[in-house]
Amino acid sequence: MADPLVEAAREAQRHAYAPYSKFEVGAALEAEDGRIFTGSNVENASYGLTNCAERTALFTATSVGVRRFRRVLIVSNSEPPAPPCGACRQVLAEFGLDLVVRSVGPRTERQWTLRELLPDAFTPELLA
Ligand code: THU
Repeated sequence: MADPLVEAAREAQRHAYAPYSKFEVGAALEAEDGRIFTGSNVENASYGLTNCAERTALFTATSVGVRRFRRVLIVSNSEPPAPPCGACRQVLAEFGLDLVVRSVGPRTERQWTLRELLPDAFTPELLA
């Protein structure tokens, strides 16, 4: 677990705003140039407006012009470790299906590619 993404995601998890679900999530997204962008889930009294940790990290990166990514690492207290929700899969897919998705829980971890998690994805190429 010497992966710097794990520590970055754990730090983000400490900033999760999850007063309703109490399910605190941190994400760390590694860009192609090596930069790491983090995010946590941000819940809302209007529950449906909640933003997941993965999307927070992605929006932070894209907001400063970064669009090419290698990996995303998710940390939660769930066992088995939580995969990204459907909305996050779709939003991440905008920037490439080769993304490696790793999820770390208290005891175990899992890893996929985004292509595995979102087969037959609707991607920008389809709009061309
Ligand atoms: N959540 C994430 O942040 N990422 C995931 O991969 C799964 C779900 C959040 C959304 C909500 O704040 C809480 O976890 C419970 O669904």
